[in-house]
Amino acid sequence: MVDDKEKGLARGLTNYGDRDFSIYLRRSFASSMGYSQEVLKKPIVGIANSFSGFNNCHRHFPELLEAVKRGVLLGGGLPIEFPTISLGEVYLNPTSLKFRNLMSMDTEEMIRAQPIDAVVLMGGCDKTVPAQLMGAASADLPALQLVAGPMMTSRHGEERLGACTDCRRFWGKFRANEISAEEINQIESRLATTAGTCAVMGTASTMACITETLGMSLPGTAAIPAVHADRLRAGEATGLAAAQMIHNPIRPSQIITEKSVENAMRVLLALGGSTNAIIHLTAIAGRLGIRVSLERLNALSDTTPVLVNLKPVGSDYMEDFFYAGGMGAVLRELMPLLHLDTLTVTGGTLGDRLEEDPGYVDHRIISRADDPLEPQGGLVALFGNIAPRGAILKRSAADIRLFEKEGRAVVFNSLEDLAARVDDPDLDITEDDFMVLQNAGPKSASGMPEAGYLPIPKKLSSKGVKDMVRISDARMSGTAFGTIVLHVTPESSDGGVLGLVQNGDRIRLSVKNKSIELLVDDAELDSRRAKWATINDPLDTKRGYDRLYAEQVLQADEGCDFTILQPITTKVT
Ligand code: FES
Repeated sequence: MVDDKEKGLARGLTNYGDRDFSIYLRRSFASSMGYSQEVLKKPIVGIANSFSGFNNCHRHFPELLEAVKRGVLLGGGLPIEFPTISLGEVYLNPTSLKFRNLMSMDTEEMIRAQPIDAVVLMGGCDKTVPAQLMGAASADLPALQLVAGPMMTSRHGEERLGACTDCRRFWGKFRANEISAEEINQIESRLATTAGTCAVMGTASTMACITETLGMSLPGTAAIPAVHADRLRAGEATGLAAAQMIHNPIRPSQIITEKSVENAMRVLLALGGSTNAIIHLTAIAGRLGIRVSLERLNALSDTTPVLVNLKPVGSDYMEDFFYAGGMGAVLRELMPLLHLDTLTVTGGTLGDRLEEDPGYVDHRIISRADDPLEPQGGLVALFGNIAPRGAILKRSAADIRLFEKEGRAVVFNSLEDLAARVDDPDLDITEDDFMVLQNAGPKSASGMPEAGYLPIPKKLSSKGVKDMVRISDARMSGTAFGTIVLHVTPESSDGGVLGLVQNGDRIRLSVKNKSIELLVDDAELDSRRAKWATINDPLDTKRGYDRLYAEQVLQADEGCDFTILQPITTKVT
């Protein structure tokens, strides 16, 4: 925790062994930026800005930043922006998840090291908001999250397009020879046409909604489109609230509690939200010693209705969700299931917020709790010998006809093996088989990529097969869909049973029983285990962050955070 005795520039001094000289030197250097001595006496709101030329989702941050600064000034604070690492989802190799913890460390340490009294976190693209919340939770300085907001949709002929469910939909059509190379090229520049995060209820939007539910962002701000003037007003209001928070400090540890995390799990389920969000929520809560249990997720899932009809599960987009009432409407529908005494960054409780909320809702987009889209939550955790610590299935995005099924395993032992063989016309596979991908978990060379959405082999997709059971220790994009079992834990490259599966083995999936079982007896598994060796490179062949990551990364059920970033004590929720 940061020492609060001093405010503004006098806080957290550089150590020269002479306190007064440290302040004098800092003020004189700050003066070189044109600040008057009067201004330098004000408390400081730091603004963690994750703008980057490698992050299209944050393209509008320069304008949004000005709105935040205006709000801080209105509140009597001095706004000072600082850059942090940015994680543009599609620009990072091997995967953005590998660098989420690095961004969280950057955010945490810069909040702690610099003279900041409160901080606004500007993020949006998938991993940036989790990274900022993880860092802010560990630094535990008053903090408000401001999200980028979603992109607007576009058009291709008569069809409405939005990144990135439609990216996958059209790419699937192209692979199945339903559209030409010329048409897929035209669509390429029509999928993502404005600033902002993906236009559907993918990971970024799910995390924005979860952040608002936790109470870490201002009410009503999660779904405002990136290019809407309300987004700038949200920036101004966030800056103002941050400046006011200096005089009435509320810390992330008061906001992110067992109760607010449970509220967030309810919302994740009601949104039919991204599977990635369970990893991120686990990591954020974990920073404050709160353990998210997958058994608890299942219990909540049984009693939480799916209310929101957005892609990839439904038919609508984030801008529709915003105009339909956004998170206020969802939270009001869920009210009987929520803990209403949780604190938010406004200083009021969730219950206070819902009482004040004006209450508009368009039930074509956000269903009534007593007439939901689905009676049970969008995610379910599966357990069994292949996943003793759990696996995740997004049942709201899966084909119900595959929920109770036994199949023959067709195994790919790496992403490279998958790429080399999946479209081989001689591949021995039918639509009743289960595709299994190994060595794609957090410790693997691929760093748990969003590769769990294994492509349907061309020999089957060209015959019209749209879905099959696919099992891996990888993740799946929040914008993807299908009967896809993900996050198998422990992972295959670290000795998990998934790594022992062989071609021709039988696997039984039962969503009703929340189970996934490899139908191979223990003696045979023991014999395979005796011959098994990881294909991961040895630690002593790695250096720098790559080495730190390989040594420290935890499994999916622990949020893929680092061991060294955990607090000392852990409670279970
Ligand atoms: Fe940034 Fe989808 S690429 S949210």
